[in-house]
Amino acid sequence: MESIVKGLHHITLVTGNYVVNNRFYTEVLGLRRVKLSVNQDDIYHRHLFYANFDKPTGSAITFFEWPELPRGYPGYGSPHHLAYRVGSPEALAKWFHFLREGNIAARGPYVYGGLASIYLRDPDGVLLELTTPYPDADIGYLKELFTQTSTPTAISQDMRLTAFDHASPIISDPKLTSRFLEKFLDIVKVDDAGGVLRVLNMDGDVYLRCIVDPVNVDGYVARGSVHHIALCVESEEMQRLVMRRLNSVGWRNSGIVDRFWFKSLYFRDPDGNLFELATEGPGYDVDEPRETLGSRLVLPPWLEPLRQQIEKKLAERDAGNAAEWPTVFEEPPEPPEPLAQ
Ligand SMILES: [Fe+2]
Ligand SMILES: [Fe+2]
Repeated sequence: MESIVKGLHHITLVTGNYVVNNRFYTEVLGLRRVKLSVNQDDIYHRHLFYANFDKPTGSAITFFEWPELPRGYPGYGSPHHLAYRVGSPEALAKWFHFLREGNIAARGPYVYGGLASIYLRDPDGVLLELTTPYPDADIGYLKELFTQTSTPTAISQDMRLTAFDHASPIISDPKLTSRFLEKFLDIVKVDDAGGVLRVLNMDGDVYLRCIVDPVNVDGYVARGSVHHIALCVESEEMQRLVMRRLNSVGWRNSGIVDRFWFKSLYFRDPDGNLFELATEGPGYDVDEPRETLGSRLVLPPWLEPLRQQIEKKLAERDAGNAAEWPTVFEEPPEPPEPLAQ
C-alpha cells in the first residue's frame, strides 16, 4: 500500500502577542522566522511561522495572533502538547540548563517509550517537550549527566531543534481513532502502548502519540493552545483521494484550499481534533528571497490589494497590546506519558 502521510508538516497554535512570541521562538528556542503573514481565514490577524531554516517541512511551528482570546485548555479537540527532537541526551541536558538560566521553568529529565525528555511552557502557556531517542532508559545515568552538564551561554550547533518528534492530541477511544486513520488515510502502523496510541510513518518513526483518556472533556482552543496539526501528504493526488473518501461518507471537510505556500485539506478526527493534510510544496520561498525569509509582512496575491487596510488594522491592535515578557514562566505539569521506572 502506498503511503499517504509522510509525517508532520507543521503545527499551528495561538499566541496573544507576536512580539513576545517571536522573541521566545527565535531567541530562546533558536528557530528562524520563515514567514510573517496574516491568517487567511481571518485576514486582520497575524500568522507567524518559525522553523528549522534548512528543512521547514516537519519543523514549522506557526501561530495565529489572537490577543482577544482568553487562555485555552487541553481536552478533546484541543491537543495536549508537541515535542521537538534534539540530537542527543547531552544536548537535552544543555537545553535544561540554558532554559533555567533564562528563568524558564524546564522540568525533567523523564524517560518513557525509548525517549528522554524535558518539558517547558512558552509565554502563552503552550506545553512543549524537547526529546531525544534514549533506548537505554537509564534514568540514573541521565540524571547524572544533567548534574554534570554546565550551562551553555548560547545555543550550540548540537542543541538545534531540527524537527518535530511528535504531537499529542487527546483521544477517547484508540480503536475508533485507529479505524478513522486507516479508513481515510491508509495509516495502518498504529500501536496501543498502554495509554498512548502511537502512529508511525512508513520509516517507522512515531509522529503522533495520542493520549488515550476516555473520561476527558472537550478542550477549548484559545491562547496557548494547539489549533491544528498538519500532516505532510505524499502528493496532491493523494490529498484529493482523501477528500473524496471523506466526501463519500459525508465527513465534513474544507475541500482543497490553496494556501499559496502549500495546498491544504482540513477535517476533524472523531474526537474533534483538527487535522490538516498539507502538500510539501511549493514552499515558503515562493514569494520572497530565501535570505530574507520572514522579515516582512507577505500576503498571498489575492490579499495584496488589501495591504494598506490590513497594515492599518494590525497597527491599531498593536497599540492596545503591549508586549510583556513573563516575569515568571509557568511550571509545566507532570508528563502525561507512562514513565519508565
Ligand atoms: Fe510527548
Ligand atoms: Fe496549517
